[in-house]
Amino acid sequence: MAKYIHFLMGLTLLALAPICLCHKTYGGYLYPQFYDRSCPRAQEIVHSIVAKAVAKETRMAASLLRLHFHDCFVKGCDASILLDSTGAITSEKRSNPNRNSARGFEVIDEIKSALEKECPQTVSCADIMALAARDSTVLAGGPSWVVPLGRRDSKGASLSGSNNNIPAPNNTFQTILTKFKLQGLDIVDLVALSGSHTIGNSRCVSFRQRLYNQSGNSQPDFTLDQSYAAQLRTRCPRSGGDQNLFVLDFVTPKKFDNSYFKNLLSFKGLLSSDQVLVTKNTVSLELVKKYAADNDLFFEQFAVSMIKMGNISPLTGSRGEIRKNCRKINA
Ligand code: HEM
Ligand SMILES: *[C@@H]1O[C@H](CO)[C@@H](O)[C@H](O)[C@H]1NC(C)=O
Ligand SMILES: *[C@@H]1O[C@H](CO)[C@@H](O)[C@H](O)[C@H]1NC(C)=O
Repeated sequence: MAKYIHFLMGLTLLALAPICLCHKTYGGYLYPQFYDRSCPRAQEIVHSIVAKAVAKETRMAASLLRLHFHDCFVKGCDASILLDSTGAITSEKRSNPNRNSARGFEVIDEIKSALEKECPQTVSCADIMALAARDSTVLAGGPSWVVPLGRRDSKGASLSGSNNNIPAPNNTFQTILTKFKLQGLDIVDLVALSGSHTIGNSRCVSFRQRLYNQSGNSQPDFTLDQSYAAQLRTRCPRSGGDQNLFVLDFVTPKKFDNSYFKNLLSFKGLLSSDQVLVTKNTVSLELVKKYAADNDLFFEQFAVSMIKMGNISPLTGSRGEIRKNCRKINA
């Protein structure tokens, strides 16, 4: 029996080896079993705290999903977004995309402190965010995937990277695609990952330009359904109300599904960056049509693209560190 188990384990290792090697990056690679020996309950602990937070506030699922994205686009998925400002560090939390917008930091803190009790200095803050993004997606009704692990945490942050690398809602289609390509992501990833906007909220300030003065000629954006625009204007005035919240997907705002893509086809995407996927490029338009018609296809591609995004230049091996507190580097 023992021999048989050994044989099985051998087979498993053989079967896994090529999978692990294909994610090889400078200094190491990520793989799902990374904490199986060092912290076997890690994933269960992350899941239970995310589930509790989302039960308390549905929107937290969206906020945690977005946090992983805003981390990965700046120096890779290295938890740089979590660092607070100190003498040596200027926090990414004050960048244009994050200020008054990025949230979920307290949930990550709670997960980290539970994991530090369970297995001190073992599970990185960057991996916590990757797991929390997956768990959040599932809790909102979306697809699941196996999360490759083994990321380590940065010893620095990049405010300029946060301002420059993360697309802005009024960037052109070409600028947004270029920003994705700089991270090794393509147009398929762009369209699938934009599907995250099937959950969560946006502030008025992120799309006001479309309602009043899209191109500097005092005209609204005519690629936005005009009755939807009129509705939005009632709570997003020309001036003031910057922080007023709007759902990104007005049909099923709390459910992770493909209605986001259906909305785009009826010109009811909230952000300009959403709507340009159908108005500025035929390849992305065809992808939007496919995902609008086939929820399973969207879910399948979303999972693939999330793993790809989660693989953006991780710190592995002896690079970086395992922070004890996600908000600051170790002493
Ligand atoms: C394609 C370029 C993208 C642009 C221009 C963009 C822009 C934005 C903006 C402006 C907001 C509202 C922020 C606010 O007003 O406070 C937002 C929210 C959100 N974004 Fe994106 N985003 C993009 C891609 C993504 C990706 C790739 C993901 C995840 C993989 C994502 C996930 C989310 C989520 C879940 C929310 C709602 C967050 C919440 O309710 O707390 N976005 N995005
Ligand atoms: C995009 O929005 C920012 C912030 O509101 C603004 O400063 C900038 O002028 C806008 N860019 C374009 C091209 O409209
Ligand atoms: C619209 O934007 C243009 C250029 O950004 C600006 O010069 C103009 O004053 C704006 N018009 C209104 C009505 O705000």
